[in-house]
Amino acid sequence: MIPFQLQSYIAFFALWAFKTNCLDTFIAAVYEHAVILPPDNIKLDSREEALALMNENMDILEEAVISAAKQGAHIIVTPEHGIYGFIFNRVNLYPYLEDIPHPKVNWTPCTDDSRFGSTPVQKRLSCMARNNSIYMVANIGDRKSCDPTESKCPSNGYYQYNTNVVYDSEGKLVARYYKKYMLMNEAQFDTPTEPQLVTFDTTFGKFGILTGFDILFHDPVVPLVEKLKVDTILLPVAWMNTLPHLYPTAFHAAWAMGMRVNLLVANIHSISNQMTGSGIYAPDSVKAYYFDKKSDDGKLLVSELESHPIVRPPVNWTLYASSIKPFSSEQEEFKALVLFDMFTFKELINDTGNYTVCQNTLCCHLSYKMSEKRTDEVYVVGAFDGLHIAEGEYYLQICTLLKCLTTLIETCGQPVENASTWFDMFSLSGTFDSPHVFPELLLSGLQIAPTEFEILSDGRIINQNGTSAPVLMLTLFGRQYEKTKPPNASVDLETTSVMMITMFFVLYSTIW
Ligand SMILES: *[C@@H]1O[C@H](CO)[C@@H](O)[C@H](O)[C@H]1NC(C)=O
Ligand SMILES: *[C@@H]1O[C@H](CO)[C@@H](O)[C@H](O)[C@H]1NC(C)=O
Ligand SMILES: *[C@@H]1O[C@H](CO)[C@@H](O)[C@H](O)[C@H]1NC(C)=O
Ligand SMILES: *[C@@H]1O[C@H](CO)[C@@H](O)[C@H](O)[C@H]1NC(C)=O
Ligand SMILES: *[C@@H]1O[C@H](CO)[C@@H](O)[C@H](O)[C@H]1NC(C)=O
Ligand SMILES: *[C@@H]1O[C@H](CO)[C@@H](O)[C@H](O)[C@H]1NC(C)=O
Ligand SMILES: *[C@@H]1O[C@H](CO)[C@@H](O)[C@H](O)[C@H]1NC(C)=O
Repeated sequence: MIPFQLQSYIAFFALWAFKTNCLDTFIAAVYEHAVILPPDNIKLDSREEALALMNENMDILEEAVISAAKQGAHIIVTPEHGIYGFIFNRVNLYPYLEDIPHPKVNWTPCTDDSRFGSTPVQKRLSCMARNNSIYMVANIGDRKSCDPTESKCPSNGYYQYNTNVVYDSEGKLVARYYKKYMLMNEAQFDTPTEPQLVTFDTTFGKFGILTGFDILFHDPVVPLVEKLKVDTILLPVAWMNTLPHLYPTAFHAAWAMGMRVNLLVANIHSISNQMTGSGIYAPDSVKAYYFDKKSDDGKLLVSELESHPIVRPPVNWTLYASSIKPFSSEQEEFKALVLFDMFTFKELINDTGNYTVCQNTLCCHLSYKMSEKRTDEVYVVGAFDGLHIAEGEYYLQICTLLKCLTTLIETCGQPVENASTWFDMFSLSGTFDSPHVFPELLLSGLQIAPTEFEILSDGRIINQNGTSAPVLMLTLFGRQYEKTKPPNASVDLETTSVMMITMFFVLYSTIW
């Protein structure tokens, strides 16, 4: 037995060694991957065919891992569906799945590949991490058998989970995360019943992990960021170019700023599926981002980040807006849909103005000056305060300045990519009742411009000297994570949202 005093020396030494190994900064990599899709989504592939396809994708991911490691990266994130693409059918997905154990089993698949049955995909990912001394984040599918006589057990006898795995720089499995919020067409996967709060510690900070649209929901977002106090969120996605407010790079940059954490986003690169837009985001700056609709290639981004980002004191998002008297203008209001939310809008008539537009309890105030009021472009200021009902239900409060697609006000809120109107100044604020507000600015040509606005501590987003290109969209996107739907809200919403999603895909496939 070791004497007590020696034990405490050992403990002290271990702590000291850990502390001195801690890094103030680290190098992060994200890889936007042009995924190779299964040849035929209708036909059931054999396990051999499935493995061949997954190996083709992993060959490409491995090149990115080697290149990231050469540039000194400590961690690399790869996209959701990055290894087998999109298979929207439970049965066809099955040959792509492996049993993925919980990280508590302490397993390094690279050196111990037979412990949990046949796991060649996990072995290869673990070896990529170990061979290159890098943390590796990948998205694969887990299967867990269940008793088919149980009422909840799916008919093929397996629960199937959309799963992120993380291997440390020795190849050990350190995190397994099941995606919680599926899109409507993701019936090939089951929703986990257990809450998924997955974190892991490194010498370069504490990490939390989510997938895709999970970042729009209270659980796991708020407990991860505010209770478990992670420094960096890892986010594999397959995220469509959802203009205006969920346009990937603008929204993710705004989310990191509003949630006050680092965010690493790896998206699929697939122009035919309208997917591109990855980035490395810090709370106070965008370190690197990629969005390219023209090329067919993947892209590796590498950048240095603070291990424990130092964040400014929180903004009081309602302070200014609730302290002023609403601006009065005779300008008539009208309503139009933006991503299925019915906004209240007013049109900007003159080259300068002060407007207030309200919906429910949210009032948005805009002051602006344009270089010139063009007759061929229409801009509006709008407010939305209510339940969003498409691809999940959640409460939003949004203040927005938008360029309309044409000069017809019915087109306000539809996707638009270019503008010609320059603004000399703007100031937008709203009476938000949630602390989670994400500030977004998008300029003509879909450029994000995170350095071209200031956030004042009283909740205004302002620009006093003009922007580097005409403005497409300026938004304060408030997500009321704390507000939940009353248990018996109407079921009609479901059918409405299915209709709307169909409209959405029709709309987007025509403009892309
Ligand atoms: C890397 O891992 C693979 C297993 O996928 C192994 O066969 C190979 O020898 C390793 N390469 C190096 C350079 O260590
Ligand atoms: C923000 O400002 C409002 C209005 O002055 C005030 O009522 C509220 O308590 C403030 N919120 C915080 C978190 O300080
Ligand atoms: C626009 O300018 C005209 C002329 O100065 C003024 O009468 C009108 O009230 C202004 N409209 C708005 C909405 O500010
Ligand atoms: C808007 O309000 C500011 C003060 O808040 C005022 O100086 C300016 O003249 C107003 N502009 C218009 C067009 O009413
Ligand atoms: C937007 O402008 C760019 C360059 O000015 C042009 O290449 C692109 O085709 C335009 N896009 C649309 C949708 O008009
Ligand atoms: C705007 O321009 C003024 C005068 O040129 C300058 O003093 C100020 O710092 C600028 N503000 C920003 C945010 O760049
Ligand atoms: C919810 O359902 C219960 C029982 O069906 C009913 O009594 C109650 O009025 C409903 N509440 C609302 C807000 O609809």
